[in-house]
Amino acid sequence: MVTVVLEGFHAVKHALRFAPDLVDTVTVRSLSAAAALAAELAPDVAGLLLARAVQAAVDHPTGVSGTARRPTADTSVLSSRTSPLVVLDDPRHPGNAGAAIRVAAAAGASGLAVVGTLDPWGASVVRGSAGLHFALPVLACAVVDLRGPVLALDAGGSRLGVVPDDAVLVVGSERHGLSPGLRARADEVIALPMREGVSSLNLATAVAAALYAWRLTGP
Ligand SMILES: C[S@@+](CC[C@H](N)C(=O)[O-])C[C@H]1O[C@@H](n2cnc3c(N)ncnc32)[C@H](O)[C@@H]1O
Repeated sequence: MVTVVLEGFHAVKHALRFAPDLVDTVTVRSLSAAAALAAELAPDVAGLLLARAVQAAVDHPTGVSGTARRPTADTSVLSSRTSPLVVLDDPRHPGNAGAAIRVAAAAGASGLAVVGTLDPWGASVVRGSAGLHFALPVLACAVVDLRGPVLALDAGGSRLGVVPDDAVLVVGSERHGLSPGLRARADEVIALPMREGVSSLNLATAVAAALYAWRLTGP
């Protein structure tokens, strides 16, 4: 069993909302302050949060923290899906991966997979997603595991058109962009148009733009 630390009210809130059975502990600095925060920001999980809350010192500005169990990796999204799968190609910055997970959850992606050495469940990645790791499958994978139309994002590609529901959307690393392996696997290399003089978008911003291009043009 791998324990995931939930830092802050929003991380605890999302874990309780999307995977309540995996949440093991909720610690609050003050029961009354946590009750007020939950009533204001998340009345849907206020009961769950307070039922598990234990009062103790909490080193987070919101006064709330917790722990949860890491879910078993759902590898089915690598082979079939009804909404795009995001693949991060050797990302280096945990905060970028966390932000990509957060927007993947918001836009309704089927999952997010990481190729390379970054652990997608590392503490700094979880910190960046505000607990939205629990809203969709988040896993590591290899290029050979991927099935379906692979659309690789690169500023030098063809202008982005329709994103199929079953697309695999690949985003390259911060420094080096797409790896040769994923570029070779891509069915299409697509670009998000940018004003002249701008060389690239941030990795998580590119994920957001591509996913919302899909979401806003869908049925
Ligand atoms: C910070 S960029 C990488 C820049 C890198 N120096 C390069 O050579 O590509 C990280 C990733 O975001 C995606 N990206 C950024 N801007 C993009 C754009 N305008 N169109 C498509 N993808 C983009 C690409 O997948 C890129 O590999």
